[in-house]
Amino acid sequence: MISDDIVVIAKKEIYTVKNITELNILKVKYLGKKGYIKTQFLLIKNLKKEEKINKSIILNQQKKKIKKIIIKRQKEIELEKNNKNFLNQKIDISLPGKYIEMGSEHPIKNIINKIEKFFVKIGFEIVVGPEIEDVYHNFDALNIPKHHPIRTEQDTFWLDKNILLRTQTSNVQIRIMKRSKPPIRILTSGKVYRNDYDSNHTPMFHQIEGLFIDKKITFIDLKSILILFLNFFFGKKCKIRFRPSYFPFTEPSLEVDILNQKKKWIEILGAGMIHPNVLKNVKINFSKYTGYAFGLGVERLAMLYYNIQDIRLFYENDIRFLKQFKFNNFI
Ligand code: DAH
Repeated sequence: MISDDIVVIAKKEIYTVKNITELNILKVKYLGKKGYIKTQFLLIKNLKKEEKINKSIILNQQKKKIKKIIIKRQKEIELEKNNKNFLNQKIDISLPGKYIEMGSEHPIKNIINKIEKFFVKIGFEIVVGPEIEDVYHNFDALNIPKHHPIRTEQDTFWLDKNILLRTQTSNVQIRIMKRSKPPIRILTSGKVYRNDYDSNHTPMFHQIEGLFIDKKITFIDLKSILILFLNFFFGKKCKIRFRPSYFPFTEPSLEVDILNQKKKWIEILGAGMIHPNVLKNVKINFSKYTGYAFGLGVERLAMLYYNIQDIRLFYENDIRFLKQFKFNNFI
């Protein structure tokens, strides 16, 4: 009895079983060592060559078809079982759900983003510079003489005789001026390092540095841009004080203070007209071009903005502190 009828019979039988164990019994019955197909092969062993070939082709086709039906049925039984398990599951709707805590931007990053947005709008380009710097870019090129007290005042972290962790973002001014031609209008933000630690100082803090070089840039331009920026940042009602100051890389130089809620003046930035020696160091013609630069202390601005008393809170990663800024992201 070599015909496709056996496939039909097998299929019928395979579809009566309800579980894998029963299915395995049928698998042995049809495809096993002593199963139907193997037995049929034995029976045709002594037939004539041509007939034997024809019958074995048919037998192989039947084997393939039955195998396919068994695999299909196996998948169906497994799926039925999974569905059943799923439907039988008991869900306790009184259990509390899983709460996913949402993170947020760090307040310092928040402040940097807000400031960058303002300066990009008025045409400044955002650039980056290295935190590991050499003496030339951090001090020499900025017209800071070898034995000038600022080198010790800034409590430098030295990595080598010539290599240090930058003490100010002003290093980026030099790197940009060296490789570009005026007009130059850039803003850079990042970490700076000084060996200092108390409620107003951390060994790592952030600065934002701005630089604008073109023909006919004046001190008035500098003051205007600072007023414009501070009004945008703190609102028009904030009290600003300009104070004459000294930096080796600017002449004249100034500092800006803001009156805090306790009526105390807090210094937030240094600025000035770029010193001709600095322009000379970077090969910019100082009889043709002038420029201004400014350096902002980001933590100081953040402390004033959020009314925070101790700078160290920014870096202790106390979740209770950080959570407060969740909804303060500037969009
Ligand atoms: N680099 C100065 C500091 O860390 C801040 C500063 C002052 C930056 C005057 C400037 C500037 O670009 O013109 O104290």
